[in-house]
Amino acid sequence: GHYDTGGYEHYLLKEISEQPDTIARTLRGRLDDRFHVAHLGGLNMDARETRSFRRVKIIGCGSAYYSGQIGAQLIEELARIPADAEPASEFRYRSPVVEADTLYVAISQSGETYDTLAAVQELKRKGGRVLGIVNTVGSAIARECDGGVYLHAGPEVSVASTKAFTSTAAAFALLALHLGRVRDLSPADGRRICEGLRALPEQIKEILTQEEHIRELAHKYATSAGMMFIGRVRGYPVAREGAQKLKEVSYVHAEAYPASELKHGPLALIGPEMPTVAIVPDDEMLDKNLTTLGEIRARSGRILMVGHRETDQADDCVIVPKNQNELDPILLSIPLQLFAYHAAVALGRDVDRPRNLAKSVTVE
Ligand code: G6P
Repeated sequence: GHYDTGGYEHYLLKEISEQPDTIARTLRGRLDDRFHVAHLGGLNMDARETRSFRRVKIIGCGSAYYSGQIGAQLIEELARIPADAEPASEFRYRSPVVEADTLYVAISQSGETYDTLAAVQELKRKGGRVLGIVNTVGSAIARECDGGVYLHAGPEVSVASTKAFTSTAAAFALLALHLGRVRDLSPADGRRICEGLRALPEQIKEILTQEEHIRELAHKYATSAGMMFIGRVRGYPVAREGAQKLKEVSYVHAEAYPASELKHGPLALIGPEMPTVAIVPDDEMLDKNLTTLGEIRARSGRILMVGHRETDQADDCVIVPKNQNELDPILLSIPLQLFAYHAAVALGRDVDRPRNLAKSVTVE
């Protein structure tokens, strides 16, 4: 039907708020509770081929690239295949070695981003096996790939990507589950991931109920000279995407760093005028992250912590529901979307059509 803001003030807020449904649509019909596997009919790959890959290379631009970084971590953790993500724009220009035993995955909401399309075409020319994780059915990138996973997240209108980002991460969880269960992921771990995925829509609803709290925080921090976003391992792509969202829609300068890299340079920027958004999941990195928060406080840096439990090391906290460690990045991303949105509104920005940006960059 006709797609409008549905009573929301902006498409961006509408699309953030839709995520309980859009994630459910990405998962629908794809989880098997009997064998704890994922059914992905569009991959066009038999079991022998699925087991044959020794490496996964993920490419995309902008938020698609950051969701690809989450995807690479999911594939390494669940399928134990070495995986990494790279901007498609870099990949296509550096004459990459195309290997027969590498699975290439191209990510695109629109399916029309020229740099990503050109990278896929170059891969195909050199015999690469390419899957697409794409939102727009029948788009150029979807047609060029050998197979793939459609997000079914519905049209995304606001220039800043939100629901496509989280659906891409969920699609990667399905792909990682699928690859893992035909290799050596145990049924128990498969079940753990299936249950975690099924819990996501309700958990996203819970986060959305905290919008007013996040709006107040956005107003408090939006006038900062700049913001630092940090995270370790699974928290790092979340921090990168959070910084990207803030930059895109509010024009507030934001940097994203792995938390452990802070001491190797950017700590020099930390002071009262440069607050930090710290992604602190309750995982094996918790103690290290809390130590980092202490180092920031010692330099009079203010801290907004997004994680699973309150800490007095932070000035402000946003607490999200805990899922399985591997799936936490999906939930941790959502407060950062609301934060960027409300910062942009507070500063009077053109939220859905930020200056200098296009929804999809279909030229070189
Ligand atoms: C543009 C948009 C970004 C988006 C990127 C990739 O630069 O401004 O928000 O992440 O393109 O778009 P795609 O449609 O390929 O996911």
